[in-house]
Amino acid sequence: MKKNFFRVLSVILCFAVLSTSFAFMSFAEETVVSTVPFRVHVAMNGDASSQRGFSWYTKSSTDSVVEIYGEDGQLVNATVTYEDVFEWEGNFCHKAVVSGLEAGKTYTYKVGDGETFSETGTFVTDNGDDSFDFIAVADVQAGNEERFEQGSKVLDAAFATMPTAEFYANLGDFTDDSTNEEWDWYDKHFGENNMSTTLVPIAGNHDGLGVAHWFNNMFSLDTSESVQVKDGVNYSFDYGNAHIAVLNTNDLLAISNAQLKWLKNDMNGTDKDWKIVLMHKSPYSLGKDAKWPDALYLQKSLAKTLDKCDVDIVFSGHDHMYLRTKALENNKVSEDGTVYVLAGTAGGKRYEIRSFLADHFLDTDFIAAMTVQKHGYANYWNGTDWSETKDTNVGGVFNCVSIKGGTLSVTAYVLADEPDADGNPVITVIDTYTLTKEVGQNEITFTGDNTTSELEYILSVVPSFLRLAAYAFGEWLPKFLIMVPDLLDVVINEGTF
Ligand SMILES: [Fe+2]
Repeated sequence: MKKNFFRVLSVILCFAVLSTSFAFMSFAEETVVSTVPFRVHVAMNGDASSQRGFSWYTKSSTDSVVEIYGEDGQLVNATVTYEDVFEWEGNFCHKAVVSGLEAGKTYTYKVGDGETFSETGTFVTDNGDDSFDFIAVADVQAGNEERFEQGSKVLDAAFATMPTAEFYANLGDFTDDSTNEEWDWYDKHFGENNMSTTLVPIAGNHDGLGVAHWFNNMFSLDTSESVQVKDGVNYSFDYGNAHIAVLNTNDLLAISNAQLKWLKNDMNGTDKDWKIVLMHKSPYSLGKDAKWPDALYLQKSLAKTLDKCDVDIVFSGHDHMYLRTKALENNKVSEDGTVYVLAGTAGGKRYEIRSFLADHFLDTDFIAAMTVQKHGYANYWNGTDWSETKDTNVGGVFNCVSIKGGTLSVTAYVLADEPDADGNPVITVIDTYTLTKEVGQNEITFTGDNTTSELEYILSVVPSFLRLAAYAFGEWLPKFLIMVPDLLDVVINEGTF
């Protein structure tokens, strides 16, 4: 009897000890989880050969620590400037800028609070020579986890196709509604690639829907020259023999006077051989968003500005199709002009052609290549029309850009939505082109201070709006009204505008 009593007592004691241990362990685990960094990004920030911007989130307020390690695995004595940690939509945002890095090196890093750290990530610094590769994707714009996973496979395929890429540009619309849930799905599926390279983020109009400042609070970017508006920022950097400017097209109907001035000075302030612009909204498109005033206004104002500063190529997104123009200058085909690439969507939401736009908004003579996907097949431009179809062209699009001295070559690929019978990814080339130029010809023609002050920006808002209003009523509206019968036809037959 006594023996049984002790047996029962020992079982109860064991159970109590185990329960306490489990309770303590789960409490400890919860404490650890709450300080683990997530949404970790290394962004291009200033001098690409020596500097990077770091950003991450935590569930609770913690210190910010970035540790950088050299190729020998030793901690590097880099300069780290931290911003104050702040609460954002229920989480805590950390930002830092690391400078004093060496050119052409591979670094590893981790971020955290000094005790709890992220996984180890890696990035390379620009070695300054005239040869480098990068990747550009656009418009994942996912609203559910499946779509984020689909988009991340496209980026995986891009890095598998071009493992030499030193950074990748995301041309905007990272998410659909810009909620915590969507950014967490994005992080879950894009996090591995984000931690393996440097990101060049471009603000999309869906990256601040509902709540402004999401984009600006997701990345650590060089905002020293251009005013940061609620849904994005303009910034620029040199990489190799190229100068790359990123435009925020969520500012005052795609672009404001202040931006145009900043961009012109920025591009005239460099003698790099290649001048590249990355932005979200596209001046030249045949997709459904091209009917709004933004696209035509970009043709009228941005294209005119680019003509004055010899920009070679523009990569953009927004209209979920692939379209490359011939070189254009002053809205005419010209050998010395700028090539505009609507980079296709890496996501699953794809737009078809709105052919009536071609009569008013885009001269078909401008089209050099185009792939538009719909219902299991893809239309492509055969040089005279887009009625030809290929079912192999259906999937998520990625662009691989390679610069070697005076040659800039790009190949656009589609990763098929379904793998082959053996489970391998099916990748098809949809466009390939090369631009060439004589190097060493660009001259610096602007040497002043190109900083846009807050006051200057505010003062430019009124003339920007007046210019936009004059354009919208004088040029866009008459074209739009002509299209109304065609638009109604689309609404009646397809139930969409
Ligand atoms: Fe968009």
